[in-house]
Amino acid sequence: MPRKEIPFVRALRLRREQVPSFSRYPFSLPAVRGLDELGLLEDGVTFFAGENGTGKSTLLEALAVRLGFNPEGGSDDLRFATVEQAHSGLSEAVELVPGDGLAADGFFVRTEGLFNLATEIDRQDEEMEAIAREVKKRSGVVMAGYRPMNVRYGGGRSLHAQSHGEAMLALLSHRLHGGGIYLMDEPETALSPLRQLALLSVMHRLVRGGSQLVVATHSPILLAYPGARIYRFGEDGIEEVGYEETEAYRVTRDFLEHRERSLRTLFSDDADDEQ
Ligand SMILES: Nc1ncnc2c1ncn2[C@@H]1O[C@H](COP(=O)(O)OP(=O)(O)O)[C@@H](O)[C@H]1O
Ligand SMILES: [Mg+2]
Repeated sequence: MPRKEIPFVRALRLRREQVPSFSRYPFSLPAVRGLDELGLLEDGVTFFAGENGTGKSTLLEALAVRLGFNPEGGSDDLRFATVEQAHSGLSEAVELVPGDGLAADGFFVRTEGLFNLATEIDRQDEEMEAIAREVKKRSGVVMAGYRPMNVRYGGGRSLHAQSHGEAMLALLSHRLHGGGIYLMDEPETALSPLRQLALLSVMHRLVRGGSQLVVATHSPILLAYPGARIYRFGEDGIEEVGYEETEAYRVTRDFLEHRERSLRTLFSDDADDEQ
């Protein structure tokens, strides 16, 4: 159970009167400048899609900070800070419209934070082992009932002893229990296509267990999750689109269907150079 209550979120609102200046990051991003209220699916998946640099991570992080998560990722049972640099400041101008229920679990999955998260998990396990050894030495009492973090998070192996993709999938499969609110920033990074399919099934288990997911992604596999709401971030702000309208889907499909032609076009400058 969580140490404090986290609401499911019906919508995220920009309190425009709290914005110091729309000409400075993060408020200058088109996705933020035009933001009024963004509705989120309470019992399903909301995706943030769109080109690099359009503000998906910035907005997801503001949502995470508002919910009380560590901006680097983690949960309220695993907080750590290794980088002094704070979050973008957007969270202070954002308010959340709470949904009906309270989440029993929550996690912010961030690829860049995975290494630090793994280190923190190992550190906490080593600390507990040292305490247990000390207690046994002094009193002969064997401390039982402690479930190592590496079991809870990594399936029994240090996340550092797993490949990046294995560690990510282990974390998602073992730590996320359902009935919670889960934010994920490009969780497909380092996952093979097969493991992205496995991630889809993890997402489905979570949704069926009454979870709210908000996922920033470029993966045409993840975006295919049925019934999801997809927001495309772009130069004109944020708009809701269908799966087949996303760049992730269109560019991938076009490339696979017309591979030879795509490659010829991409490399046409090289061909000119050679003449
Ligand atoms: N600390 C920062 N200061 C100024 N600009 C930033 C900062 N962090 C990110 N940006 C800029 O904001 C834009 C959006 O970043 P981000 O939210 O990470 O995009 P996305 O996740 O959609 O790829 C990027 O173009 C980036 O250069
Ligand atoms: Mg990003």
